[in-house]
Amino acid sequence: MQDQNTKKLRSQDWFGKTGKDGFIYRSWIKNQGYPAHQFKGKPVIGICNTWSETTPCNGHFREIAQFVKNGIYEAGGFPLEFPVMSLGETIIRPTAMLYRNLASMTVEESIRGNPFDAVVLLTGCDKTTPSLVMGAASVGLPTIVVPGGPMLNGRFQGKAIGSGTDVWRFADDFRTGKMSAEEFEEAEACMSRSAGHCSTMGTASTMAVMCEALGLTLPGISAIPAVDSRKKMLAHMTGMRAVEMVKEDLTIDKILTKEAFENAIKINAAVGGSTNLILHLLAIAKRIGVDLNLEDFDRLGSYIPLLLNLMPSGKYLMEDFYYAGGLPVVIKELSAELRPEAISVNGKSIIENSAKARNWNEEVISPLAKPLKDHAGITVVKGNLAENGAVIKISAASEHLLKHRGKAVVFETIEDYHTRIDDPNLDIDKDSIMVLKNVGPKGYPGMPEVGNMALPKKLIDQGVTDMVRISDARMSGTAYGTVFLHVSPESAIGGTLGLVENGDYIYVDVKNKIINLDVSDTVLAERRANWKPLDLGYGRGHNQMYIQHVNQAHEGADFDFLVGNSGSKVSRESH
Ligand code: FES
Ligand code: MG
Repeated sequence: MQDQNTKKLRSQDWFGKTGKDGFIYRSWIKNQGYPAHQFKGKPVIGICNTWSETTPCNGHFREIAQFVKNGIYEAGGFPLEFPVMSLGETIIRPTAMLYRNLASMTVEESIRGNPFDAVVLLTGCDKTTPSLVMGAASVGLPTIVVPGGPMLNGRFQGKAIGSGTDVWRFADDFRTGKMSAEEFEEAEACMSRSAGHCSTMGTASTMAVMCEALGLTLPGISAIPAVDSRKKMLAHMTGMRAVEMVKEDLTIDKILTKEAFENAIKINAAVGGSTNLILHLLAIAKRIGVDLNLEDFDRLGSYIPLLLNLMPSGKYLMEDFYYAGGLPVVIKELSAELRPEAISVNGKSIIENSAKARNWNEEVISPLAKPLKDHAGITVVKGNLAENGAVIKISAASEHLLKHRGKAVVFETIEDYHTRIDDPNLDIDKDSIMVLKNVGPKGYPGMPEVGNMALPKKLIDQGVTDMVRISDARMSGTAYGTVFLHVSPESAIGGTLGLVENGDYIYVDVKNKIINLDVSDTVLAERRANWKPLDLGYGRGHNQMYIQHVNQAHEGADFDFLVGNSGSKVSRESH
């Protein structure tokens, strides 16, 4: 009963088989109540679901999956939903980043090992996006993403409040007594009042925008709130499109071209996206085999103006962004800067897809002629303190600190920081530079979001709102400040950052892309000779593997053995 077209389906290596193997593949699928005609000869579309009650941002994904299924059925395909490791940013310890690569392995092997002709990726909370795209890129099937969508705007005491961003403010207010314990607790439910991921331009929103900018989603989907019915409609249409993509053999490598990555970097700059994008985009590029490096972010993004007025760089939230017209408006504004060669999942470029976009609120999305800031992208700085680079998000930093020389106040570990930061005798003033060590990929391990260290209480009391901070950590996409991150090589492997001592002078100059430790090479050589790595006490399991195999931040912090791809072929039978 199979025509020429269906014979080519990869899933036929399972369900189209004769004899014992075919019997086994089909028989056990039938136990779920699917009659043969529902799947025989049909394109099988995997729905990779990151639903989990421990990933609250993806808590609505069983419902989203149902809409994707409806679309797949409507287009004549057969959906099979499967779970993968899901990472809930706010809950999992010590940091979700520690497990991004592991999660990507569960995605890659689940896709390759199962009878899929295409996959729909349901992504939401921060790491659930890169882990799924990385895994799918290493297999290479037609792939389409449904970003789960942001929460509705939080509301507290009459004002809009944004996920994450306002937590940092409230925490400072609570520490300094401006907010009571009751108010602090009340704000919890006010901040997270609907299904969805963080409502700010944090990492989850950044990753959703990244997928749309790369061309991995249907147009306009990234800003739609999780609970909006149009999210379900687009989920349905995504399911339909996945079936078409099988027929067109529109594989992920045809979408993830160098030009697509260039577009994603520029669009990220215009929306004031998270610095976490760098690590994830580098890792995805290395999986698909596109030559992308840290300097590309600076070269392509640092001159792009900030168009989007969203927290943490601005004042609005994702819901407002959607009502203003969403990402297609930003794409249209930037179109002269973007590469038209890159096609998206619907076969057209993101520029073509955005041609009819209209801006309904220029307070939220500024026109290119009147940007919020002239240069907004991520800048890469280098020097003896970061030979392989460190990054800073200018749109969230303070202008007056972008060129600064100050004395280092060094914290050896995050615990050391917590112990001493509010010590009234700590020798620190507003011009000091806070340095945090041992929070990089291997040093923590997992590169946690602690780079935006809270300022000492005694300085906050004096009205200080920002200071230069340097570390090999990441920072949450919802955070802000003059924060230099991702220092590579990291301190835990003997990078110069690990040799900084209290009182050393550090010089940063973002315009000229410099980060320097004013200590002579001779002194540094002496310190290096006496330097010893921390013993983290990991002798087994995933964390030992992580420390052994994780790459440095400027390479995307993937595992060395996961770089690249292995295709979708499985050469051996299971029985
Ligand atoms: Fe999940 Fe922010 S915690 S997106
Ligand atoms: Mg985050």
